[in-house]
This record gives sequence, structure tokens and C-alpha cells, in this order.
Amino acid sequence: MSLVLDAAAQDLLFREARTANSFSDEPVTDEQVQAIYELVKFGPTAYNQSPLRITLVRSPEARERLVKHLAEGNQAKTAAAPLVAILSADNEFHEELPQLLPHFPQAKDAFFSERPVREQAALLNAALQAAYFIIGVRAAGLAAGPMTGLDFVGVQKEFLDDDHTPLMVVNIGKPGEDAWFPRSPRLSFDEVVTTV
Ligand SMILES: Cc1cc2nc3c(=O)[nH]c(=O)nc-3n(C[C@H](O)[C@H](O)[C@H](O)COP(=O)(O)O)c2cc1C
Repeated sequence: MSLVLDAAAQDLLFREARTANSFSDEPVTDEQVQAIYELVKFGPTAYNQSPLRITLVRSPEARERLVKHLAEGNQAKTAAAPLVAILSADNEFHEELPQLLPHFPQAKDAFFSERPVREQAALLNAALQAAYFIIGVRAAGLAAGPMTGLDFVGVQKEFLDDDHTPLMVVNIGKPGEDAWFPRSPRLSFDEVVTTV
């Protein structure tokens, strides 16, 4: 009663949405990924810094290079997923700040001239955007399989550079056979929320 989002959308995005561990052969197109991005780009970040970067791993050759850096249990499902995305944080996001924050372009130098400050901000805000991205995948009628079981240094060296910190790898597609582990319980409201 308290939620204004219609019940079907609540189910699609949260209640019925699951983390997929297998996928059908149906391809995920660039148009679908663009539609997801055009939706989730509006999710908020501090100073609108928008540090998330997305590397789509499409070619079989690139897929092979990625899979070897994943934990064993993540390899087969990633090799077979229709699409795989490496989500990373751009530690040099401040270069875009004058464009992204036109009413306060001084933020670039006033707050983000030091790399360690940028790294901390990029990590938090790109992680927020990664969550928006997963919900966006669901909004496209697809399932996501996010993974952090991987060699982060290996993935960074293989696909990124020193300015981009990998956050997670996400398999994307329509769920396949036996795609889900049993749903695990969640913490109750009373276990999580305190009021002071
Ligand atoms: C950031 C992140 C990292 C994860 N890493 C892995 C992983 O390396 N391997 C894996 O099989 N599942 C991984 N998962 C999947 C979680 O275990 C799963 O999303 C969670 O248990 C909820 O499952 P459900 O959506 O089916 O309820 C990860 C999920 C997230 C959000």
C-alpha cells in the first residue's frame, strides 16, 4: 500500500528477480545495453561524478582472456553467458566534472585534486552505479549474474589500466535451465533499521 511503483514492476525489479547462474542462448544486443544505460545513468552519484565505466566482453577471444581470471565456480557460466560486462571505477572521473557539474565546475580542483580522495569517491559511487546497472538489467527483462570471485589485478591488467579499478563482472542474459540457487533469506526490517 505504501509503494507507488506498480506491483508488476516491484516483482520484476526485486521480488521475483533472481541472480542467474545459467543463461539461454538468446543474444543480448547493444541496443538493449544502451537502453539499460540510458535508464540507469540517472541514478544519483556524489557531485554527479558518474565514475562507472562498462567494458562489454563480446568476442570469444576476449571472453577466454576474462574467464581465466575468474574463480573456478564462475568460469563455465561466464564462458556460456550471452553477454559479460566488466564494471570498473574511473579514478580520473574528475576530468569530466566540469561537464557533469556545470553549476559548480570548481569541484574538480577544490575537492578532487588528490588521487586517494578520487579513488575512495570513485569506489563508492561506481559501486552505487553498479547496483543501478543490475536493476536496469532487470528492467530490460533480463537477468544479471554479478561476480566478485575473480583476480582483480589480473582483470585490471588484461582489460583496463591503472586509472580504472575493476569492481565486478556481470553476466547478462535470459535465464537458462536451473538458473537459480534456492532463494536465501533476507534480514528483517527490525534487524536492519533503528530509529534514533
Ligand atoms: C557484488 C556481488 C558479487 C557476487 N559474487 C558472486 C560470485 O563471485 N559468484 C557467484 O556465484 N555469485 C556471486 N554473487 C551472487 C550472490 O550470491 C547473489 O546475488 C545473492 O545470493 C542473491 O541471490 P538472489 O538474487 O538469487 O536472491 C555476487 C553478487 C553480488 C551482488
